[in-house]
Amino acid sequence: AFPKQARLVEMSPRDGLQNESGPVIATDIKTGLIEQLAECGLTHIESASFVSPKWVPQMGDAAEVMAGIKRKAGVRYSVLTPNLRGFENALAAGVDEVAVFAAASESFSQKNINCSIAESLERFLPVMEAAQKHNIPVRGYVSTVLGCPYEGEIAPEQVAKVAKDLADMGCYEISLGDTIGTGTPLKAKYMLEAVAKYVPVERLAAHFHDTYGQALVNLYAVLEEGVAVFDASVAGLGGCPYAKGASGNVATEDVLYMLNGLGISTGVDLQKLVATGTWISSQLNRRNGSKVGQALQT
Ligand code: HMG
Ligand code: MG
Repeated sequence: AFPKQARLVEMSPRDGLQNESGPVIATDIKTGLIEQLAECGLTHIESASFVSPKWVPQMGDAAEVMAGIKRKAGVRYSVLTPNLRGFENALAAGVDEVAVFAAASESFSQKNINCSIAESLERFLPVMEAAQKHNIPVRGYVSTVLGCPYEGEIAPEQVAKVAKDLADMGCYEISLGDTIGTGTPLKAKYMLEAVAKYVPVERLAAHFHDTYGQALVNLYAVLEEGVAVFDASVAGLGGCPYAKGASGNVATEDVLYMLNGLGISTGVDLQKLVATGTWISSQLNRRNGSKVGQALQT
């Protein structure tokens, strides 16, 4: 049976904008996007990254973004923190939650965060410790769970191992990233089953990119396995700077339309979300990457 409720974790201000080429997007467009997303009823918004601005220039104004948001009660504003320095800056900026990010593929780990998987997990330990001290929940990501741009197929057991390590060190939720969107439904199902042997499905989230147009059907496959937390980006914004050709996360509008159709509630207003997707697409001069957004655009 499907869950009665699902939680959408909005990725667009971070995953959606981190890869925009060209000049750095103005801070007030980022804060405007975040504020509109909160008005749509989204309760969990990944708002920025405290990473090296040399690696990801678009996220260089993370502190200004966090300071600029008019915060809405009941909304969690989270950020990526690759190391203790990122965590300390995030804490100073008053974030509600942070996320550490590892990969299931050694080559991707090297390209993305310049260290091995084992080194990355070690680097997260002081972040976990500091976060616990300050009562900040930590989410964990595993990238390349359904394929790697450098290594191709990734064994589900390898994904499970990294997910378990992150859960064991204290991440309250593990988000499983199909970074390059190469997954298909049965692969998604088997990967999820492998991970769920070690981490209860209640603590798992799906983070699927839509590069091959498979994200929604893969989401459906893991929904059937009991996953009820979905990462998505309004208007399908985004990509990953270290995964060539990767397109955005699955569009939030498309996920919401599907969940509404299945009778699964999220508390998010579809019409407002479509308006937000239309607005940000025009601000960035991009084609709206959501089918539902295009269909319902007024
Ligand atoms: P490094 O070069 O190995 O580390 O980078 P370093 O300690 O030698 O630092 C290099 C420079 O960065 C130094 O500056 C540091 O001070 C600075 P310099 O001396 O050259 O002037 N630095 C920092 N600056 C600001 N904030 C920090 C910070 N740490 C160091 N926290 C590092 C290692 C991890 C820092 C780097 O590789 C990095 O920032 N990577 C970020 C990669 C990233 O953001 N990728 C995209 C997000 S992950 C993703 O999209 C996948 C996901 O969506 C799931 C999925 O789809 O699969 C989550
Ligand atoms: Mg991603």
